[in-house]
Amino acid sequence: MLSDSCGGVRPHAGLGRIKPHMVIENLEDLPAIRIDISSNESVYGPSQSAIEAVINESEYMYRYASDAVRELTIQIAKRHNINPNGIVCGHGSDDLLLRIAQSFLQTGDELICSINGYQRIPNFAHTANAQPIKASDHNLTADIDRILDCVTEKTRIVMLANPDNPSGTYLSGTEIRRLHASLPDSVLLVLDSAYLEYVAAENFENPKALIEESQNTVMTRTFSKIHGLAGLRLGWMYAAPAVADAVKKIGMTFPISNVAFRAGLASLNDQSHAKFVYQQNLKVRDDFTNGLEMLELEVIPSQTNFVLARFPHPDYSAVNAYAFLRSHEILARRLMSDSFAEYLRFTLGFPEQMNEVLDVLQLFFEHQHNHTGILEH
Ligand SMILES: Cc1ncc(COP(=O)(O)O)c(C=O)c1O
Repeated sequence: MLSDSCGGVRPHAGLGRIKPHMVIENLEDLPAIRIDISSNESVYGPSQSAIEAVINESEYMYRYASDAVRELTIQIAKRHNINPNGIVCGHGSDDLLLRIAQSFLQTGDELICSINGYQRIPNFAHTANAQPIKASDHNLTADIDRILDCVTEKTRIVMLANPDNPSGTYLSGTEIRRLHASLPDSVLLVLDSAYLEYVAAENFENPKALIEESQNTVMTRTFSKIHGLAGLRLGWMYAAPAVADAVKKIGMTFPISNVAFRAGLASLNDQSHAKFVYQQNLKVRDDFTNGLEMLELEVIPSQTNFVLARFPHPDYSAVNAYAFLRSHEILARRLMSDSFAEYLRFTLGFPEQMNEVLDVLQLFFEHQHNHTGILEH
């Protein structure tokens, strides 16, 4: 709840419903973090050419990047063979998701999301004082039929991350098309595609074709993940030009910084870096998944750069594993929702880091084993 300290001035009621979605620890008395695998950043960092582009641009940081959106839009359109009039650039995909919500929702409208999907989505609805409707799922994967059950005449947006965070699960192209085909034309289908570049599943479909065949589909994309530019905040979206025009009306005068723009251009032109990261991630994902399974943890099959694992046994709980890892200077991610109380999410780092995480988890199980006396019985 918002406090009353605003005096007579009041933010709108939706803001009082915004909740944190990640567990933030109190940093006092804890050892420094050596392995941070909590925020799905790319350990491989940006491409060398992006670093050089930022250094070269740095002397111009006193200027607004007046031409950046136009130029970046042209280059994204060329690289992805898409219509520049459907592209909007922003500060990362969260900025675009927020602007989409604010462009298409007003008080009383409904946005449908998946209950265990990207946990910021309900908050995007609240910023427009609209109502998030959380459709139930199965096996932590969005369920098209349950989403369709939630559609009413108040529905304006269905917003899903595909692949999703924190589960790492995905919906196939066929499922997304079935969802789209069953939605009224008046509902915008927003596909947050932050992890699209990591997907290996053959039945996944890049939403580009669906966007071009319809007037009511959007994808958001980011430079934060595979391109390693999370700290610069750069993303883009693609939709029918009329949808893009609406979103462009909301945002700052010069919506991206000149250094982010230069780094983004350099990253687009260095596809070898993205390919390298994809391949490394794939290998680490398989190896780490196998390692967790060897420790008898339940692993949700991931198409992303992170893995969610379930610690089902109360003697070996996720909270205890988190604390044990933290005492070894490793930061994993715990999530607020009760659905994830038994889970930890691990961003995929370098192979040697993930081996160390597995070693520490092994130690955790041995340590708990000894301390709960299970060995003696
Ligand atoms: C599903 C999903 N969407 C969007 C974002 C935000 O990405 P960006 O850095 O582009 O704002 C994240 C970040 O972790 C994410 O997991």
